[in-house]
Amino acid sequence: MLMKIITLPATLLLILIFLASSASPDHHRKFNVHDFGAKGDGITDDSKAFNEAWKRACNSWEKHVVVLVPNSKYMLKPVNFSGPCNSDQITFKIKGKIVASENRSDYEKDTEHWLVFEEIHNLRVDGGGTGIFDGKGRVWWQTSCKVNRSLPCTSLPYAVTFIGCTKLRVENLKFRNAQKMHLSFERCEKVRALNLRLTAPEHSPNTDGIHVEGTHNINIRNCVMRTGDDCISIVSGSKNVRATDITCGPGHGISIGSLGARNSSANVSNVFVNRAIFSGTTNGLRIKTWQGGSGYAKKIRFENITMHNVTNPIIIDQYYCDQVEPCQEQVSAVQISKVVYRSIQGTSSAGEAIRFNCSKHFPCQGILLEDINLKSYGDVRQSAKASCSNVKFKIKGKASPSC
Ligand SMILES: *[C@@H]1O[C@H](CO)[C@@H](O)[C@H](O)[C@H]1NC(C)=O
Ligand SMILES: *[C@@H]1O[C@H](CO)[C@@H](O)[C@H](O)[C@H]1NC(C)=O
Ligand SMILES: *[C@@H]1O[C@H](CO)[C@@H](O)[C@H](O)[C@H]1NC(C)=O
Ligand SMILES: *[C@@H]1O[C@H](CO)[C@@H](O)[C@H](O)[C@H]1NC(C)=O
Ligand SMILES: *[C@@H]1O[C@H](CO)[C@@H](O)[C@H](O)[C@H]1NC(C)=O
Ligand SMILES: *[C@@H]1O[C@H](CO)[C@@H](O)[C@H](O)[C@H]1NC(C)=O
Ligand SMILES: *[C@@H]1O[C@H](CO)[C@@H](O)[C@H](O)[C@H]1NC(C)=O
Ligand SMILES: *[C@@H]1O[C@H](CO)[C@@H](O)[C@H](O)[C@H]1NC(C)=O
Repeated sequence: MLMKIITLPATLLLILIFLASSASPDHHRKFNVHDFGAKGDGITDDSKAFNEAWKRACNSWEKHVVVLVPNSKYMLKPVNFSGPCNSDQITFKIKGKIVASENRSDYEKDTEHWLVFEEIHNLRVDGGGTGIFDGKGRVWWQTSCKVNRSLPCTSLPYAVTFIGCTKLRVENLKFRNAQKMHLSFERCEKVRALNLRLTAPEHSPNTDGIHVEGTHNINIRNCVMRTGDDCISIVSGSKNVRATDITCGPGHGISIGSLGARNSSANVSNVFVNRAIFSGTTNGLRIKTWQGGSGYAKKIRFENITMHNVTNPIIIDQYYCDQVEPCQEQVSAVQISKVVYRSIQGTSSAGEAIRFNCSKHFPCQGILLEDINLKSYGDVRQSAKASCSNVKFKIKGKASPSC
């Protein structure tokens, strides 16, 4: 009896605590874009409604606020969602489909971005498995100088860009047909990009999946990329980058190096790619730098990688040149060191599975090949070939092919 008297209130208290904590998500203040005038018919411009919902959420002093995008189709012109915000945490919950304006004159003010999230702390963008960003890129690809060489090169908008965000999570979303890059993280800290699918046609120009620039501590996990350019590009000033459980192809593989500009400094370090599958890509694991670059690309580890019919499964190219005329020979280069290739198997569509074309002036150092087994796709009884210049390497276990 005494027992009951004591435990009953305690149990009640526990239940109350449990109810309070489990109910709390509903207490998050929600800002539904429809309450700010969004039509959600896929034709009407809903940019103002999104912008208004964002401003109200961002200015709110509630601890945790939610911007809610219900399951409809919304057309947006370029919008910047800017911080810093008053609330401790903001969730952008996208259940529906967000499509880009196809009217190019909408991009005149800022030709480089469609949607920008900037200077926000503790943001989560969650698609719950149904959310989609669609860049409607076709109108842009047609006029790209990479597709039609007789046209001048102009800048194209990135689809979704995060700039200067800290403690960021982007998850359970689809990105498709970006005008240029699908998803870009620039100068961000502590990022998790989880369960994403990024798709665009194989021949769409510069449609990288995830672009990482000047970003520290980023974890990319469980993502599928099928695009016209790099699945993941990791460039200038990025540090502590992890990519795990990646499916890539078609596309240009995972690329590490300096930003797409000559003379730029790379300074990329601590990259770990673990468990990735490449299928029908032009490159697999690529480190590429331009002559005349500076800085370093170091402490890079690739493990547990499978290649299916990949043209260049392993490549370091310090003579990368993407212009029609040959690039001028220059003395300076990005220093590449401490690169580990471990447990890499599969097939190459060309005869050459490994190419190390390092700088004469800054040879690649500390390259380790461990348990490499790459065959020729056409004839799997044959080991593929390796071509190596200016590289200092070691072999552990078996490496086939090797320099
Ligand atoms: C949106 O953000 C980008 C990147 O910071 C900036 O270049 C652009 O001017 C901004 N646009 C507006 C309308 O504020
Ligand atoms: C594109 O936008 C401009 C400026 O707002 C407008 O004048 C033009 O009619 C639009 N074009 C189309 C095809 O909607
Ligand atoms: C390339 O652009 C030129 C100039 O605008 C145009 O005349 C030509 O039809 C385009 N070619 C293709 C294949 O679209
Ligand atoms: C890169 O630097 C070299 C040497 O300093 C210079 O000659 C060249 O014009 C530069 N290229 C670019 C695209 O800035
Ligand atoms: C890259 O690193 C080098 C060597 O540490 C340094 O001299 C250079 O200033 C760095 N560049 C940038 C843009 O951070
Ligand atoms: C790499 O794969 C091997 C065998 O498939 C596994 O034992 C190992 O744990 C993996 N390494 C990592 C870091 O996941
Ligand atoms: C293998 O790759 C080559 C070169 O990219 C391509 O032409 C060929 O169609 C691919 N084969 C298969 C079966 O995908
Ligand atoms: C390295 O790249 C240069 C410039 O593209 C090229 O001329 C050379 O043949 C390449 N060397 C190897 C070993 O691939």
